[in-house]
Amino acid sequence: MAASNPAAGEQYDYEIIKKFTVMAIVWAVVGMFVGVYIASELAWPFLNFDIPYITFGRFRPVHTGAVIFGFGGSALFATSYYVVQRTCQARLWGGGLIPFTFWGWQAVIVLAALSYVNGYSQGREYAEMEWPIDILVEIVWVSYMAVFIGTLMKRKQPHIYVANWFYLSFLLATALLHTFNNLAVPVGLFSMKSYSLFAGAQDAMTQWWYGHNAVGFFLTAAFLGMMYYFVPKHAGRPVYSYRLSIVHFWALSFMYMWVGTHHLHWTALPDWASTLGATFSIMLLLPSWGGMINGIMTLSGAWDKLRTDYVMRFMIVALSFYGMSTFEGPLMSLKDVNALSHYTDWTVGHVHSGALGWVAMISFGSLYHMMPRLWNTKLYSDKLVGVHFWLATIGVLLYITAMWISGISQGLMWRAFDDFGNLQYSFVESVAAMHPFYAMRAIGGMFFLSGMCVMAFNAYMTIRQGVREANLVGQTAGAAA
Ligand code: HEM
Ligand code: HEM
Repeated sequence: MAASNPAAGEQYDYEIIKKFTVMAIVWAVVGMFVGVYIASELAWPFLNFDIPYITFGRFRPVHTGAVIFGFGGSALFATSYYVVQRTCQARLWGGGLIPFTFWGWQAVIVLAALSYVNGYSQGREYAEMEWPIDILVEIVWVSYMAVFIGTLMKRKQPHIYVANWFYLSFLLATALLHTFNNLAVPVGLFSMKSYSLFAGAQDAMTQWWYGHNAVGFFLTAAFLGMMYYFVPKHAGRPVYSYRLSIVHFWALSFMYMWVGTHHLHWTALPDWASTLGATFSIMLLLPSWGGMINGIMTLSGAWDKLRTDYVMRFMIVALSFYGMSTFEGPLMSLKDVNALSHYTDWTVGHVHSGALGWVAMISFGSLYHMMPRLWNTKLYSDKLVGVHFWLATIGVLLYITAMWISGISQGLMWRAFDDFGNLQYSFVESVAAMHPFYAMRAIGGMFFLSGMCVMAFNAYMTIRQGVREANLVGQTAGAAA
């Protein structure tokens, strides 16, 4: 543990991890604030104020970009650099490439957000960035891969710990997905606008091959890498079954690639393609639950920790949400269920049970574990971690309950017929009926965001405390000399 081993900060490159940790927290606050704002725009549309830059349509990709790539991405850079160094007992490889991954990635998030508010978008979900930013992403990503793989290659341990396998699959898959989904022809060298190389059903299929694998490898495999290092480390126990973790890895990596077409049921896609997506989605339940059980059972013999340790609670609740969303996903991939859920808020509820419950919670747990070790101090306040935990848990529950009710109501209202075979409700009636649930979702988001602000305060105070203690040690050492 670094806290009891001050030399760890010298043995490993912690500076880059500190930077990414701070930015993960900053982007979480920004992205969630925008999330609350767009949720409020849906509940109270006057909040658009007729200002084009802040309308729902432009702000929505700012939200998804900031939370997925800003918060999630920075948390993944930070933890992967931490895990690869500690499990390989090697300092990061890459020299100048290392800080480049930091500045390059932050530039991507800022440029993307600026381009969205100004109305530039490829119109591809989670890949809205236009071609110049895509090229920057490509360069940063290849540098990131070089740093990670370079470090693996100079490892002092013969074995590559399973968490690194998950990070590796995320790195490789993201490179592949980003490259092919963004193949486009720019209108001109000095124009931001471009047209996709694909058309029609192929275009849709490429987009959702990308879209679901972004979920599979960015939002799932990579965070599983986090889970496989930080859960056993924080619990002080070995992984429940190492063999199961390997099966989890290979099964997940193989199956995720096939499921994208479940986003395109009942469309112009050939029926067999959509059936294939559904079949692999159902099969995915097995490795996903195997992994969840593996994570939860890692705590066996240390369950008492849950009573007092809120960092551990974050991790276990994250695993429970991982289990829940990987049960809900296969269910929604069935064509008949999807006929009801598609286009409705049920999808948005599913997304956020995965995004808030799994992705954000496992990141919070891992960042809380890492921070004291990075700054060689104690967390400023364990009590505030508890406050954050409850605000976040109440926030997710309010969010997803609201979306389940509104999603299923929408689905049922849109398919209801009267005795004469006419639609029973007009579309606008279904919009009006959703108002209370949109307000409830916005309130849930406010809870979640307040928890995030508590974390930001706790992190700021922890860092300040760490810096002060390091200065004191420096002064004492100076005086003794
Ligand atoms: C305070 C917390 C949050 C709030 C209030 C919030 C709110 C929203 C809202 C209102 C939308 C638009 C839904 C629609 O189009 O109807 C949305 C979309 C989305 N958000 Fe969040 N969000 C939050 C946190 C997060 C986090 C932490 C992540 C990821 C790690 C995330 C990922 C997404 C994704 C992927 C979508 C697109 C969903 C879809 O297309 O179905 N959100 N969010
Ligand atoms: C076995 C695992 C999973 C399966 C089979 C699955 C399946 C599905 C299905 C069927 C949809 C709705 C597609 C539609 O009607 O358009 C969906 C949407 C989505 N899921 Fe999952 N899901 C899984 C796990 C997760 C997890 C863990 C997350 C984590 C955050 C997640 C994030 C998303 C997102 C972001 C979307 C919305 C995409 C969009 O329309 O923009 N899923 N998923």
